Amino acid sequence: MALTDPSKRLEAMPPYMFAELERKIEQKQDEGVEVISLGIGDPDTPTFRYVVEAMREAVGDPSTHKYPSNRGRPEFREAVAGFYMQRFGVEIDAVDEVIPAIGAKECIYNLCFAFLDPGDVALASDPGYPVYTGGPILAGAEAHLLPLVPELDFAPDLDAIPADKLAAARLLFINYPNNPTGAVVPDGFFESVIELAREHEFLVVHDNAYSETTFDGYVAPSFLQTPGAKEVGVEVFSLSKGYNMTGWRCAAILGNAEAVKTYWRLKTNIDSGLFEAVQLAGAAALRGKHKHVEEMCSIYARRRDLVVEALGAIGVDVTTPKGTIYIWAPVPDGHTSTSFAELVLDEAGVVVSPGSMYGPSGEGFFRISLTTPDELLTEAVERLRAHLTG
Ligand SMILES: Cc1ncc(COP(=O)(O)O)c(C=O)c1O
Repeated sequence: MALTDPSKRLEAMPPYMFAELERKIEQKQDEGVEVISLGIGDPDTPTFRYVVEAMREAVGDPSTHKYPSNRGRPEFREAVAGFYMQRFGVEIDAVDEVIPAIGAKECIYNLCFAFLDPGDVALASDPGYPVYTGGPILAGAEAHLLPLVPELDFAPDLDAIPADKLAAARLLFINYPNNPTGAVVPDGFFESVIELAREHEFLVVHDNAYSETTFDGYVAPSFLQTPGAKEVGVEVFSLSKGYNMTGWRCAAILGNAEAVKTYWRLKTNIDSGLFEAVQLAGAAALRGKHKHVEEMCSIYARRRDLVVEALGAIGVDVTTPKGTIYIWAPVPDGHTSTSFAELVLDEAGVVVSPGSMYGPSGEGFFRISLTTPDELLTEAVERLRAHLTG
């Protein structure tokens, strides 16, 4: 074995499939094409000013400069609990049922190490946020994929999960509003999940990254507002997308007290908590002015309509999403996800994400993110119309 050989765990991760697309993007840029990326879901508008001001103040407070407690500052835990009551009507004990996470990604990854052993199974939405499958693999466990298809409104068919996978399941990852499909949770789905989790004794992890980015009057629920949810599950709430705070790494895990404690126990061995100034700024964000979130959503809604219309004009029919910051669209006949992404890049100099990036059931789709500034998005849409019509 060579001294730089990666661990077997890392070797077990699926290969990165999109090196070729990235090479083509670079080539286009070298040719002088101004490539417009509609790939990444990272908000283009800044963190709201009142949150930045709260951070400025928090950084000036020397009590935030020490190692944070992994349990989190009371101000943060109380603000998250207060937000959950006011926004979702969910009662959260600020002492035992919530702690901060260094972003939802960290939390989901570490939940795999807190709950999975080799031989265990994590049930994971496919397509889905990549950590739902990468986390279990790195933890030496198995990720069993649950296909999300348009015919079932992008909810997994719980009756189709094989009995042996259910027997070995310790975690289930779900996420609504959903990345990448833009779907919202179908009526009754959370209830069915709770029933299944009770029967087969696995922990439900609802990744709530997009409840605040919704449109047309749709108000996304928390998983925890479903009766019985706290007995079987936790929710990971991220401030990244709803408050334009991707760089701040600010999230929380809430729900089942024992599960929260187990996650905390793992974390005490791994990291030293979330910078307390970020916790105070996050608390201010959640206590703060909802009008900023609404304004941001109206920007995304306008962009969404622009993209849906342009896709219609080039013959791509999409369902207009009620939430998230993404459009999920079928590729035209005769294309795979990657061949279509390559065509769009070649013809229009626009980057879209191949759906297969998010799992095998994403094949046949592509994803457009709405986080590109208006002028560039308009230009991208015009290029699609000009180069791909007919
Ligand atoms: C479904 C989902 N979960 C989690 C994350 C990551 O959130 P965070 O920035 O809090 O790590 C993302 C980011 O794109 C996401 O789409």
